[in-house]
Amino acid sequence: MLKIQSNFFSSELCDRSKNFEDKAVSSLRDLQKRAGIHRDMTGWFNYPKNSGGRTLADIQKFQHEYHQFFDTVVVVGIGGSYLGARSAFEALSHRFTLGGVGHRKPMIFLGNHLSEQMSVETLEFLKERDPVVVVISKSGTTTEPAVAFRLVKKFLEAKYGKQGSSARIVAITDDDRGGLRQQVTQNDYPSFVIPGDVGGRYSVLTPVGMLPLALCGINTTKIMDGAAALFDEIMQGSDDELRNHPAIQYACLRMAAYEEGKRAELLVYGEPKLKSFAEWWRQLFGESQGKEGKGFYPGDLVITTDLHSVGQFVQEGSRIAFETFLSFDDPRYNSSAIEQRLAVPKADDNLDDLGYLEGAYIADINRKVMESTMAAHADGGVPNINIVVPKIDEFCLGYLYAFFQVACAVGGDLLGVNPYDQPGVEEYKKNLFALLGKPGYEERARRLKQLFPST
Ligand code: PA5
Repeated sequence: MLKIQSNFFSSELCDRSKNFEDKAVSSLRDLQKRAGIHRDMTGWFNYPKNSGGRTLADIQKFQHEYHQFFDTVVVVGIGGSYLGARSAFEALSHRFTLGGVGHRKPMIFLGNHLSEQMSVETLEFLKERDPVVVVISKSGTTTEPAVAFRLVKKFLEAKYGKQGSSARIVAITDDDRGGLRQQVTQNDYPSFVIPGDVGGRYSVLTPVGMLPLALCGINTTKIMDGAAALFDEIMQGSDDELRNHPAIQYACLRMAAYEEGKRAELLVYGEPKLKSFAEWWRQLFGESQGKEGKGFYPGDLVITTDLHSVGQFVQEGSRIAFETFLSFDDPRYNSSAIEQRLAVPKADDNLDDLGYLEGAYIADINRKVMESTMAAHADGGVPNINIVVPKIDEFCLGYLYAFFQVACAVGGDLLGVNPYDQPGVEEYKKNLFALLGKPGYEERARRLKQLFPST
């Protein structure tokens, strides 16, 4: 299903990656048994088989019983509470869904920032729409979605009245903890649960990702099937078979680059519609592995756009990066009703010198750009591997989510860090609470006030 090509990873790096294989397989065995570093927070592992059917059935039941008309799905959440849904929605939908093209309901976002201007514009846009609001927060206390939820609730109440507004809200949160769960109980909102043993960035296959996608009309069964296929592959198999599994190979190749001194990994892809997928990938690896002074900075590069900007740095700047290309045998996703191919048109004058490309499909030219970039960057000292997937569709995307989650969890173990916590994220939050005057943070506030005397 998924292949890794390593033509542009040196033979030394490929050899070095083999040193990590035994440890990676043993880590995967731990994951299967929920042991070692993987003993907690691994509810995401094999989720499709353990809980996927029930999750999708609950969502289907909700959709069946939900009689409110809606033309827009608003996802209120941040980090792992929105990136999964956004990444699949954008990869699998017409890019002008919001303009009414294609057959999906649009998905828009609030609570993933604290921009007053963007919030004003979003609420302005919603005046003309009939939204359903999916508010997602595992802790139920994260500032950004909590603020956004207040804003959107006020907006809904003004537009639909108190009762009408409640009918447009569905919450996804912890089973019994946190402020959002309390709001669910108080207001009788329909709700779904983020399992306690699944962290935000590992939650795309739970209701966190699946509910908003299903509401937009995306086939979540196929996403779940794709993820199940990956888990099936790595639940069985001898140690030798697992050693050669692409998820294990990827984890080990990364470690070889790390040992060689690389400190940034760039996910390189040729479809701009994968931008949010890259965001999801960045969060997964950044929060899971970037700790204790270790890990790669996860960046991304969209081809061809970024070749005309940061491509210069990658080719000739500080030699800190290696690249992971993400390629598709067929990168076209038929998200509109019309399937069409585009080739370079014929022009008799040939003033732009494109005569040699007449009749060539754009996707094929794009593929050649990917290939020429792999070779050029490798020549410039940026080793790269190429992950090749059949196509951009629901099944392959589901497979990729599971693939990267497994590689990330096992890779965290190889690196010697806990891939399930995110202690670094808390630090700025404490400062924020202190600067905003939250009770209990007075001591920190005094220290910070000296650094920001005008606030
Ligand atoms: O992956 C994670 O755990 C984080 O990125 C969280 O998803 C993010 O901080 C949002 O947290 P919460 O869902 O509790 O609002």
